[in-house]
Amino acid sequence: MSNYHIKHLEEYFQVYRKSVRNPESYWEEIAEEHFMWHKRWDNVLSYDFDKPEFKWFEGAKLNITENCIDRHLRTRGDKTAILFEPNNPDEEALHISYNELHERVAKMANVLKSQGIKKGDRVCIYLPMIPELAVSVLACARIGAIHSVVFAGFSSSALATRINDSDCKLVITSDGSFRGSKTIDLKGIVDEGLKKCESVETVLVVNRINAEIDMKEGRDQWLQPLLEKAETTCAPEIMDAEDPLFILYTSGSTGTPKGMVHTTAGYMVYSAFTFKNVFQYREDDVYWCTADIGWITGHSYIVYGPLANGATTVMFEGVPSYPDYGRFWEIVEKHKVTQFYTAPTAIRALAKENLEHVEKYDLTSLKVLGTVGEPINEEAWHWYDENIGKKKSPIVDTWWQTETGGIMISPIPYSTPAIPTFATLPLPGIQPALMDEEGNEIKGNQVDGRLCIKFPWPSMARTIWGNHQRYKETYFSAFKNMYFTGDGALRDSVGYYRITGRVDDVVIVSGHNLGTAPIEDAINEHPAVAESAIVGYPHEVKGNALYGYVILKETGESRNQDNLRKEINQLISDRIGPIAKLDKIQFTNGLPKTRSGKIMRRILRKIASNDTSNLGDTSTLLNPEIVQEVMDNVIK
Ligand code: WTA
Repeated sequence: MSNYHIKHLEEYFQVYRKSVRNPESYWEEIAEEHFMWHKRWDNVLSYDFDKPEFKWFEGAKLNITENCIDRHLRTRGDKTAILFEPNNPDEEALHISYNELHERVAKMANVLKSQGIKKGDRVCIYLPMIPELAVSVLACARIGAIHSVVFAGFSSSALATRINDSDCKLVITSDGSFRGSKTIDLKGIVDEGLKKCESVETVLVVNRINAEIDMKEGRDQWLQPLLEKAETTCAPEIMDAEDPLFILYTSGSTGTPKGMVHTTAGYMVYSAFTFKNVFQYREDDVYWCTADIGWITGHSYIVYGPLANGATTVMFEGVPSYPDYGRFWEIVEKHKVTQFYTAPTAIRALAKENLEHVEKYDLTSLKVLGTVGEPINEEAWHWYDENIGKKKSPIVDTWWQTETGGIMISPIPYSTPAIPTFATLPLPGIQPALMDEEGNEIKGNQVDGRLCIKFPWPSMARTIWGNHQRYKETYFSAFKNMYFTGDGALRDSVGYYRITGRVDDVVIVSGHNLGTAPIEDAINEHPAVAESAIVGYPHEVKGNALYGYVILKETGESRNQDNLRKEINQLISDRIGPIAKLDKIQFTNGLPKTRSGKIMRRILRKIASNDTSNLGDTSTLLNPEIVQEVMDNVIK
């Protein structure tokens, strides 16, 4: 029996039982046999759900980049580590071998050092999906700097908020980015954002699109000349197991984004272990995850997990629709991709297009298909299974979160029988629990409740940067001695889990988590707006879309409502990013509220979703009459 690589269902059950009976010895064996350490741990796990505090492999010394790069050089030096596929199909793909990656990371790390970056400093990375993004991430890890990657679709003020929250000293960006037929002025966004950031001393700029840009004297430098001068080796900083590796921001239901802090050893062990099993990765495979490295999926399953296994990982710069809707499948054929991991929203968007875009390409290389980020509906699942997997590639519906660091509930392909819309069974070491609203665990099968995890796992986020109290309140206060996920789930008659969606005010739009409160804050900045409420409603491609109810200060007659809608969406775009724009905006004279003045979002959600048959008892509202008015003016 192998703890590290599970190959059939029986083995899964055996391994799972062992991992639950004795988690410490289970993870200890894996850590020992499959990774490179400078010093062994003193203690596998210590934890306290009240503080809350979790420590894995305490006392161990390591550098994650040695595990992801150096240790492969002897046997896989010439193997492709990163396979870069550019936005433009006419531009040649780039095969970066482990040897080359080693050198590139060392050079970048030396540049960072020459700019005064030391262990523990925060570096913000705001780059498109180009090799420099992965290289920058690894270069930070090489020298012990904490990377904070901000998705390059975020606006200048969203970027500024994130830079300021963790006091980043340095920003790595590019002159611009290619996105389908468009170019995006990334450097301009950075310049705008940095007007509000005092901590940033240096901006390093990759030349990607040959744009004419402003370079601020004393702050901005082109990266290329610095890299050319840099030494080609860089000794790794020896890190403690619990030293922070990165910060990654995720939306909460209220307030500013949460800077989730992941630490080194546990994250490494778990991301590597789950990559190996969930994708059944074999030495000659070509693995492709279409996520952006700006999200946790990219961190764990484009960079760290694959590289820790010596894999070939594809990085795609472009979009699924350019130059046409066959682009993903063209890439699968061209690089003989064996594992393909994407989001339900992408599947739904592609399923709407003509099947010719799929049929033109040879997809026989595929062995495993994955999805992540939101529940996958049955129709999309079947489309994926029939047209992409040709009913031969198992689909892994992987449930996890930024906070969990790695995949938590997922089939193991070729072992766990899949059922559409079910993430199926917990991976080894993961102990889910369903809880009722009174805080009792719901035992048995064919039940549903709030999804919690009742035992620590190696890659759990350790804190929220600068706000441990919020970490405690958000994840460890709803239920005692448990991590609360914010999701609802059901467990069917055989113990399979199906995630039913968020139970808080986070809406997942095209796989992106959006807190409704920050969007409302942005809208409320508009001088004509008195109050607003945002809810999600089902959308056939995006999964959910955003619906806004807006009360204007004076009755809207005097202003053109379409212009107002545009202005409101522009504000949201500026404050958060285009992904948070509202699909529908209804102007209203009031919002249903409880006697204590709380907006009844449940009712608003139902109205926006066209599901008004059962609104519940509205008579106890402060203003029951408003419900009819809101319903009468709903935007279909
Ligand atoms: C949702 C992404 C259903 C869930 C890795 C979770 C899913 C949130 C699935 C985390 C899935 C993710 N089925 N829902 N397979 N995967 N989710 O932090 O609501 O961007 O809490 O991490 O996405 O999103 P995040």
